[in-house]
Amino acid sequence: MRSSWSMICPPRHGQESRVAANVGSFEFQRVDIRDARALESVVKTHAKADVVLHLAAQVAVTTSVTEPRHDFEVNALGTFNVLEACENTPKTPS
Ligand SMILES: NC(=O)c1ccc[n+]([C@@H]2O[C@H](COP(=O)([O-])OP(=O)(O)OC[C@H]3O[C@@H](n4cnc5c(N)ncnc54)[C@H](O)[C@@H]3O)[C@@H](O)[C@H]2O)c1
Repeated sequence: MRSSWSMICPPRHGQESRVAANVGSFEFQRVDIRDARALESVVKTHAKADVVLHLAAQVAVTTSVTEPRHDFEVNALGTFNVLEACENTPKTPS
């Protein structure tokens, strides 16, 4: 595994220590993926990254029914924002 990771998400309470125990050195960035500008800003600071794993999601089926706009904004638009941030960030050779 790589020695350095960045996790861009608002992790649930306790996730930081769980990830640290399993991954080793990493860095948390708390960014709402609906905020395209903030997301791109963080992605640009990691232009040497080889891989982006996008796991941020609104996962509750009940919420997708009661708050469909929120579900769409996080899952569809948020994914678009991640892809666009990557597209707008040329990879810097490491
Ligand atoms: N857990 C599984 O078995 C499984 C299987 C197949 C696919 N998936 C998919 O993997 C993805 C992640 O699933 P999970 O089980 O890790 O869910 P999870 O709920 O544990 O993780 C989702 C993360 O997204 C974050 N998040 C929510 N809204 C956000 C926002 N607006 N901006 C930034 N971060 C936000 C949450 O804080 C949480 O940390 C989902 O798309 C899910 O459908 C999961």
